Amino acid sequence: MIIRSTQKLGMKLFEVVESRFSTAFGESWNPFYNLGALSFFFFWIVAASGVYLYAFFDTSITSAYTSVESITNNHFYIGGIIRGLHRYASDAMVVTMTIHLFREFLMGRFRGARWFSWLTGVPLLWLVFASGINGYWLVWDQLAQYIAILTAEWFDWLPFFSAPMAQNFLNEASLSDRFFSLLAFLHIGIPLTLLLMMWVHIQRMAKAKSNPPRGLALGTLAALIILSIAKPAVSQAPANLDRAVTDVQLDWFFLNLYPLLDTVSPGDLWGLVGFITLLIAVVPWILPKGKYSIATVNLENCNGCERCFIDCPYDAVTMQPRTDGMSFSHEAVVRTNLCVGCGICVGACPTATPFRRQTQLVAGIELAEFPLKNLRNEVLQASETLSGTDRVMAFACSECGKDKLARQPGVAVVPLPCIAMLPPSFIDFVISKRLADGVFLTGCETANCYHRYGSQWTEERIEGKRDPQLRKRVPRERVARLWTSAVNGGRVQQEIKQFRSRLRDVGPMRDDYASMKQSLSFVSSETGGNIHDTD
Ligand code: HEM
Ligand code: SF4
Ligand code: SF4
Repeated sequence: MIIRSTQKLGMKLFEVVESRFSTAFGESWNPFYNLGALSFFFFWIVAASGVYLYAFFDTSITSAYTSVESITNNHFYIGGIIRGLHRYASDAMVVTMTIHLFREFLMGRFRGARWFSWLTGVPLLWLVFASGINGYWLVWDQLAQYIAILTAEWFDWLPFFSAPMAQNFLNEASLSDRFFSLLAFLHIGIPLTLLLMMWVHIQRMAKAKSNPPRGLALGTLAALIILSIAKPAVSQAPANLDRAVTDVQLDWFFLNLYPLLDTVSPGDLWGLVGFITLLIAVVPWILPKGKYSIATVNLENCNGCERCFIDCPYDAVTMQPRTDGMSFSHEAVVRTNLCVGCGICVGACPTATPFRRQTQLVAGIELAEFPLKNLRNEVLQASETLSGTDRVMAFACSECGKDKLARQPGVAVVPLPCIAMLPPSFIDFVISKRLADGVFLTGCETANCYHRYGSQWTEERIEGKRDPQLRKRVPRERVARLWTSAVNGGRVQQEIKQFRSRLRDVGPMRDDYASMKQSLSFVSSETGGNIHDTD
């Protein structure tokens, strides 16, 4: 309970800050909506600048420091900028990764089948820190000496090493070139492992956004270049194992735990980081998702069109050769362990149309516990609560939209797990049946959709850019939509008010459109009537 309230409060704070950034940068360039992609981008900057640095780096203990100094000062200044990029992009990666972690936690995007992305994020934390700390070591300055000794003492607490690592750093004579070359080798091996794990991390997400929008990428790169020029990355005094380190400037992004080793024992620090790692890792299981519905395929209604397969944001639908002897080549199959119950596949299925008879209203793919029949019944019931000439049927995403729509007379709200669960034919249905005078759709900002692509797919379906499209005959002045975050409830109310006023101006439905369906009466058995007919 306390965790849930903290989560809600934290998310509200994020949303307030984020909506400012959306105003300043525009929604798609909002860095908060691109944290994973920015982390990837910083990795590539670090990798590219690292290749340059490595080409001129001397892995021997005697020349490492001078080679880094030479890169910084003698490469027509370009080496200095590249070193700055290498350091600042690494720092930036720690920042974006950390905010990304908090944000995914607060948004609850680790629950249910999404546990995989969360769990595979945990080793990334270790690998990013290990890469950065290992990098600082290679400069072999006073800071490197400080890190080397403390890290060795820390690792020596573990029962894995036959000889203590710290004995390599007793004095100048005890550190061998071989050991130092091993560190340099690790600085390639750890980032490569990081890259592999980053790839694994996004495997369960269809069309994962691993590249930030071009404008955001260029702006970020420019900022890093300016920072590298304004505050060049420099070494501290050269290391000298014969003398104790007295004064170092720490990089607080990577080395924030090191000062702790002055006060706590290595064993206690292992206990602390081990506990934090474990706590993060088990989050999906200590805060599980409540009951949610999984998609199921009704084969007799599936024609193998692939739309559910294309639109599922979690790669939970596969297309497999037909098993029931029907003339279609493929059928949809849901991988239930990947399905998060967003319902986007239902909105994508061409057979999901409310114009069917009640008894026939079964789509090729449905949410097991929220079938289309129920959705149509909800729509019919909601319509009965409306009166006047500006009646609005609002469909809202439960994650961000439901609360934005304060109850008000003349507006009926039908919540959905994701706005893209709504097949466009439902909009046609509501208007043509005069169940409302207008349909209002609201969901998350397109660049920040809880279910990743829900708002975008809905927008494209209405715009006629994605199948299934909203039919041309639907009067567009009777359809409004707003993609915005939960904090903007006031804006949603405002938009609905304006929409209703427009509906009053538009006047009653044109008969030629309405009459196409008006002869057909839909009353669900649950609302007490009979289903008569459909087209
Ligand atoms: C190197 C560090 C990391 C990188 C490069 C990275 C990258 C990404 C990317 C590209 C996405 C996909 C965004 C999208 O298309 O919707 C993503 C999603 C996600 N990441 Fe990370 N991530 C990193 C670290 C972490 C960490 C440390 C955690 C948590 C422990 C984490 C948890 C998640 C979760 C829960 C999602 C959302 C999955 C979903 O929407 O189902 N990530 N990450
Ligand atoms: S969208 Fe519907 S008809 Fe098309 S493959 Fe999926 S279940 Fe079958
Ligand atoms: S409900 Fe449908 S779209 Fe959503 S994850 Fe499950 S299969 Fe994919």
